[in-house]
Amino acid sequence: MKIAVIGQGYVGLTISVFAAEFFEVVGFDNNSKVVAQLNQGISHIEGVESSILNKWISEGRYKATTLGEDISDADIAVIAVPTPLTKDRKPDLGFIEAACKTIGTYIKKSALVINESTSYPGTLRDFIKPAIEKYSETPVEHRYAISPERVDPGRGDFNQKNTPRLFAGLTPEASKQTRDFYSKFCDILVEVSSPEVAEAAKLFENTFRQVNIALVNEFAQIAHALGISVYETLDAANTKPYGFMKFTPSAGVGGHCIPVDPTYLAAVAEENGAPATFIRRANEVNLEMSKYIVRRVAEDNGGNLEGKSVLVVGVAYKPNVADVRETAAELVIEYLRKKGAVVTWHDEVVGNWKGEASAPLQGADIAVVITKHDSVDAKKILSSAHYVFDTTGKVAGSKGL
Ligand SMILES: NC(=O)c1ccc[n+]([C@@H]2O[C@H](COP(=O)([O-])OP(=O)(O)OC[C@H]3O[C@@H](n4cnc5c(N)ncnc54)[C@H](O)[C@@H]3O)[C@@H](O)[C@H]2O)c1
Repeated sequence: MKIAVIGQGYVGLTISVFAAEFFEVVGFDNNSKVVAQLNQGISHIEGVESSILNKWISEGRYKATTLGEDISDADIAVIAVPTPLTKDRKPDLGFIEAACKTIGTYIKKSALVINESTSYPGTLRDFIKPAIEKYSETPVEHRYAISPERVDPGRGDFNQKNTPRLFAGLTPEASKQTRDFYSKFCDILVEVSSPEVAEAAKLFENTFRQVNIALVNEFAQIAHALGISVYETLDAANTKPYGFMKFTPSAGVGGHCIPVDPTYLAAVAEENGAPATFIRRANEVNLEMSKYIVRRVAEDNGGNLEGKSVLVVGVAYKPNVADVRETAAELVIEYLRKKGAVVTWHDEVVGNWKGEASAPLQGADIAVVITKHDSVDAKKILSSAHYVFDTTGKVAGSKGL
């Protein structure tokens, strides 16, 4: 069987290397630089080792391509392209539409199309299927299924194999084939009654995280106002063996999922006349954390950051990855600069970002820790500036949330 995976990013490349153990995989991506690099056996994704990529390439089980012709005889097409928000924060299905165009134009035989990209309930039935049919020159009867991806890049304990996978087909045949496909490299498959349930479950999982992160971020502000330690209070609450799940405060939420997916749910809720007040408010609270942090830093430094050198430590959106999408560091830097601070940042995992390079971890008036990678020594952070404000709870002896 030949598998075409459309999109070779975090999700698509991860699924490609797991599937390549059992199938011939063609990774289709419209970024020719990424494709050239992958064909040289160089992985650009944390958690996907270049050695495994090289192994599959040398055994003829994997290749990357920008050419639609290379996927024309695929038995299964997996969609793994971005689902961002538009400028006015509405669901942007432009990448999915382009993937549908590729599938419709090039896949000539009847295939199983599985969507792994995150989107709102109804996307498979009402958007993907009609779009592929629209772009198919000769009418081909494909099967359609959804299996939302749950991969957490950089995570060691859960991966494709041991993370339970939700799925549902538009037809029983599509469901069966989807189960057969994933059961090769995933231990636990959970079939739900409709694609819409699988799509909604994925969005709700991330909404649960977004709302709880906002709640703990607001609580951090309350704890500070009351003069008590938020961390000690959370640890105390966490001794309750049921009915509580610990989330920790931060500078906000980042990455491709938590800041974006709940807005997909809110959009479809509001379109259907249902309220999405928690999602909207959680989004506001998380975005406002950056202002709160800069205010606290300014207050501790005589109320004025004008001309002060501020080193932002860790600009990736979470530890041990180079991913800067929607990172809270961006807003923190923006507000610090608005206050007149001279801002540089240190993050050797990211290296270069927005035309700026990682600065040395030393010699600043103020350091603000947004993300602490395991490779960065907390003591070095503490000695990098006269004043250190930590938003991660990992730099003992600093000021912080
Ligand atoms: N990254 C995660 O942790 C994660 C986890 C679960 C679900 N998801 C979801 O999976 C989807 C993909 O996310 P990602 O993190 O892999 O994105 P990504 O940005 O890492 O990768 C997407 C890839 O798709 C390529 N691409 C864009 N348009 C294309 C097109 N028309 N044809 C072929 N390739 C195209 C891009 O060049 C890029 O290489 C999104 O819907 C996301 O929400 C992501």
